[in-house]
Amino acid sequence: MLVRVENVSKQYMVGEQPVTALNRINLNIEEGVFMAIAGPSGSGKSTLLNLIGCIDTPSSGKIHIAGRDVSGRTPDDLARLRGRSIGFIFQTFNLLPVLSAEENVEYPLLQFKELSVADRRDRVRHYLKMVGLADFGRHRPNQLSGGQRQRVAIARALAIRPKIILADEPTANLDHRTGARILRLMRRINRKTGATFVFSTHDKRVIDMADRRVDLEDGEIVRLGVRKAKHEWGFALERAEDDYDDDEETVDAADE
Ligand SMILES: Nc1ncnc2c1ncn2[C@@H]1O[C@H](COP(=O)(O)OP(=O)(O)OP(=O)(O)O)[C@@H](O)[C@H]1O
Ligand SMILES: [Mg+2]
Repeated sequence: MLVRVENVSKQYMVGEQPVTALNRINLNIEEGVFMAIAGPSGSGKSTLLNLIGCIDTPSSGKIHIAGRDVSGRTPDDLARLRGRSIGFIFQTFNLLPVLSAEENVEYPLLQFKELSVADRRDRVRHYLKMVGLADFGRHRPNQLSGGQRQRVAIARALAIRPKIILADEPTANLDHRTGARILRLMRRINRKTGATFVFSTHDKRVIDMADRRVDLEDGEIVRLGVRKAKHEWGFALERAEDDYDDDEETVDAADE
């Protein structure tokens, strides 16, 4: 198993108030899957990706990545692990504006001292070509379209040859057609190279491109699905309606 999330909870303190972002999450991610994390705003998608991506640590529970327990590590340890094992793709692309596409892809490789300059350049060319931007290496982000910027970000994530690629709403800042093309590109790369992708979204059309889905609600997994056909999902876990806690719908008259 590539990732094992065991009974993970995450609380944030907002002033004196604890806010539960994730509550007792259990999840296995197999190598090579193309997985969507779905759920409404505030359901915990980004929190879960950040925990798997070692950007943050759980309040309780354990996370194993490729057999290594990453839950109890120091920030330095996590940064090292992240730099070598995890590729990130962000909603806002997060490219460095003063660097060219090539330099953006090359940037995370600079920490790999074992790579020669020539190897590094080869890798940059290889991954820019994979995302269809062989001719755009010299362009800076502001000279590229949104879809092209996201493709640079995908090349940058792949270039470190990570164990897993995490994408937090990668299509949210793209029009639907461009977003669908980006998702298809990610899926093609997944099929061709076996790279594992986990991405969050609340767009149903994007969810239907995944082959695994995890549905979050209020910090809990309410459904786990495996895709059977184009718009058909088989659910391994489906929480019964009765289990939903609708107490929160009650509006206190004093609040109005
Ligand atoms: N740094 C933080 N401090 C306090 N509360 C936080 C923090 N980050 C997230 N939360 C809270 O945790 C819950 C889950 O947030 P999260 O960002 O994971 O949701 P999300 O599913 O990614 O939402 P969206 O679709 O809007 O991006 C929310 O209630 C949010 O307010
Ligand atoms: Mg989010």
